[in-house]
Amino acid sequence: MSVLAVLGGQWGDEGKGKVIDWLAERADVVARYQGGANAGHTVVLNGKQYVLHLVPTGILHPNVRCIIGAGVVVDPLALVEEIQYLRAHGVEVGENLIVGKRTHLIMPYHKVLDAHMEDLLGVNRIGTTGRGIGPAYSDKAARLGVRVSDLLDEKILTERIRVSLALKRRILGGIGLSEEESRALDEGYNLEMCRKVREILAPHVCNTDAEIQGAVESGKRILLEGAQGVLLDLDMGTYPYVTSSNTGVGGALSGLGLPYGKLSAVVGVMKAYCTRVGQGPFPTEIHGEEGERLRSAGGEYGATTGRPRRCGWFDAVAARHCIQVTGLDGLVVTKLDILDGLKAIRVCVGYELEGRRLAAFPAETSTLERCEPVYEEFPGWLTSTAGARSWDALPPRARDYLAALERLTGKNIWLVSTGPGREDTIQVRDPFVALPGRES
Ligand code: GDP
Ligand code: IMO
Ligand code: MG
Repeated sequence: MSVLAVLGGQWGDEGKGKVIDWLAERADVVARYQGGANAGHTVVLNGKQYVLHLVPTGILHPNVRCIIGAGVVVDPLALVEEIQYLRAHGVEVGENLIVGKRTHLIMPYHKVLDAHMEDLLGVNRIGTTGRGIGPAYSDKAARLGVRVSDLLDEKILTERIRVSLALKRRILGGIGLSEEESRALDEGYNLEMCRKVREILAPHVCNTDAEIQGAVESGKRILLEGAQGVLLDLDMGTYPYVTSSNTGVGGALSGLGLPYGKLSAVVGVMKAYCTRVGQGPFPTEIHGEEGERLRSAGGEYGATTGRPRRCGWFDAVAARHCIQVTGLDGLVVTKLDILDGLKAIRVCVGYELEGRRLAAFPAETSTLERCEPVYEEFPGWLTSTAGARSWDALPPRARDYLAALERLTGKNIWLVSTGPGREDTIQVRDPFVALPGRES
């Protein structure tokens, strides 16, 4: 048995899709445990690019069972669209995709609330993806959510939508709404939407916690697919500039109903540099032309919203925080090739605040915003690593840079990604081989 959690170790978009797709070649099950269609996981297969938002990345492997667990918030329209997009591209989506009955739905009114909350926040806005994530998780916590199981029972569904909407109308009462937004707050409109998707989604609905238990007991290889990253975690991230779910191991266990003792290892995916989309502190951000060059080299534009990603240097302080709060066992470093053309590469090794060195990643966003990064500089290798498939094929300076990341994070690198394609991967250590003292 091997249960491997693969999660983002920065602010999202670390290349989780690419890594999970690579690992899925040797897996039986891939299970998404949190987030929603705010995620955009890119896989490049035989030169063709697929962007997955809700469907687990394992779907591109015909023999992998894909699970959308209870911790995910599913926009049913987005899911139907994604299923149709995959089928149109020749990807089989049938019994290999299952959606949990406990999973919450994102309704049209959640997206209206998301937009208005951002609007009201003004300069303090989060810069959300606008996919209704925050309002859907708020409803879940407030016990006003609509779940996938409700979708299958017209009477319960009608009642759940009625109760939830009654409150929304009060909240948005004084705000001028467009015609489209008013429609999204109409009971009949929401019900009609549910009826439309019911037929397509019903065959995929099942009790996914039982499914996970069964897979664990029968010794299947299971990948737990994280969305976003630990620095966007609702509790451990840069609050309030975070997403509304637990992106780390806690989210994986609760979002799938998985006993903690069954987890074999936790793998953190980190870019060889850093990016962030949306607002919030980013100590190592590179402004101006230099940042623009990195953005352009890395193709750093959001896979979901197309927004330009803010770019910066690798932040070892933030990385150590992620490692500490999730218990990452090993790292996957992606997009090494994007640094190929740089004469010098910087890594943040510490923070200084008002002349004092900080011992830990600060919990207060206002403090983090005032931190000055302390850098160590490394010489660039100025030669191509793109598509390198072995450690020995890497130039010595690239190896030194990776060794420095290991030293500064205190964790070993298990995989290195040198391109968007499935094959552009270096395996340093097999993530499926059990760690000492863990179940295998
Ligand atoms: P995710 O959300 O963590 O799955 O990451 P995204 O898919 O949003 O963004 C990562 C982007 O980098 C995608 O366009 C990938 O195709 C691409 N990518 C992933 N790994 C590598 C790599 O090692 N090198 C290069 N050049 N591109 C990569
Ligand atoms: P993947 O899985 C990068 C960011 C948004 C915003 C904040 C809150 O592709 O790595 P939300 O819509 O979740 O309420 O937005 O979180 N964000 C992401 N950034 N990658 C993602 O997903 C993200 N999902 C949300 O930009 O700052
Ligand atoms: Mg992404």
